[in-house]
Amino acid sequence: MAKIGIFDSGIGGLVVTKAITKALPKYDYVYLGDTQRVPYGPRSAKVVQDFTREAVKYLFEKENCGLIILACNTASARALRKMQKEFPSKKILGVLIPAAEDAAKFKKVGVIGTAGTVASNSFPREIKKINKYVKVFQNPAPMLVPLAEAGERKAAIPFIKQYLAPFLYKSRRPKGSGPRPNASGKIEALVLGCTHYPIFKREFELALRSLGVGGKIISQDEIIPEKLKDYLKRHPEIEKKLTRNKNVKILVTDKTKTIEKLTRDWFGKIKPKLISLS
Ligand code: DGL
Repeated sequence: MAKIGIFDSGIGGLVVTKAITKALPKYDYVYLGDTQRVPYGPRSAKVVQDFTREAVKYLFEKENCGLIILACNTASARALRKMQKEFPSKKILGVLIPAAEDAAKFKKVGVIGTAGTVASNSFPREIKKINKYVKVFQNPAPMLVPLAEAGERKAAIPFIKQYLAPFLYKSRRPKGSGPRPNASGKIEALVLGCTHYPIFKREFELALRSLGVGGKIISQDEIIPEKLKDYLKRHPEIEKKLTRNKNVKILVTDKTKTIEKLTRDWFGKIKPKLISLS
């Protein structure tokens, strides 16, 4: 009998976890946030793979997870395939493809993510695999993860505007005519391609509106619970092994005041427990 493991580099995956536990409350969950080593975004693919491997091993071996969700786009982009190969008898799912499936319904899509996710080109690749006619524009948003980890909402606003501004200029226009704000080619959807970003969803909505970029926000906390439900329906051999005591455990590799406050805000009485991965 087994639990569902959810992994992120820090606290970002907690937003997805909150949504999953609300939609599928009967199962037992273990969240692991590698808060000691966050952010993963600026790190090399090899280091993201090494860190992810340690977390995945911990969740399978020490926590007896029957299924792990990498609720981290950087890990999904850089390490998911490798982990699936290294743990062939285990189930490991990512969060990137479900968001790409949603994005593929639009003609022009903006994606923001960590430097690593953007450099991997995973979002454009996965979106175009589903619909090759989608135009995908990417922009890294490196400051948002540290700001989310620090619980700094207000300070994030100017950065959000700065990271969204390039999407204003992604229009079809004559060469050399320079950037044209609010042009006809503006994006129809914005993928929040990092699980930390939904923490600032409200700020994103306001920024999109004030910049006139427009577009639907594609946020993984609104997508993953349904995808997981569907996955478990299609895989009864996994579903029937899951324990059902409505337990949620939160593990972190560094316990700070901000993490304690954020887990209290989102999960009430559940206290983060300090663990070591090495
Ligand atoms: N929340 C993670 C993501 O979705 C990682 C952010 C980071 O550690 O840089 O990409």
